[in-house]
Amino acid sequence: MSNDPLVQHARDAALKAYAPYSRFSVGAAIESVDGEIVLGANMENACYRLGICAEISALTAARQAFGLDKVKRIAVAGGHIDADGRLAGAGAVTPCGGCRQAIYEAADLSGIDVEVVSANGDGTETMVSTIRALLPHGFGPASLADAGD
Ligand code: THU
Repeated sequence: MSNDPLVQHARDAALKAYAPYSRFSVGAAIESVDGEIVLGANMENACYRLGICAEISALTAARQAFGLDKVKRIAVAGGHIDADGRLAGAGAVTPCGGCRQAIYEAADLSGIDVEVVSANGDGTETMVSTIRALLPHGFGPASLADAGD
């Protein structure tokens, strides 16, 4: 079991996912530079393409709670809800490409290479990385420097 509290927060958050279509529940927990924690989970829709990812959900909560410029770490965990109501699954969940882009935006604002902890549903496996490693040569706010007035 991971001893990173942020991973346990992400696993807890996954229990509040709304994922009736994929049956794949994902939770995300974001820690601020001041140690505040906010949560998010994926929320699907009968119009499938409108579903949102756990990371986006958590980033909007972070924006409300302390601002994107204070995002320091994010943990993601996903899998299925087992018969005992626990999040379970063997494979670590890394953020999808779109979510990497959204995390990159926060990292650009803060100047922090945001740590990304990917966990499996069981909470037994974690992979620690950073957003710059997950999205090398990313396009962010600073990339717009050459825009016109
Ligand atoms: N999902 C996330 O919430 N985050 C990711 O980074 C990967 C995928 C969700 C979207 C969808 O509701 C379900 O997992 C299956 O793709």
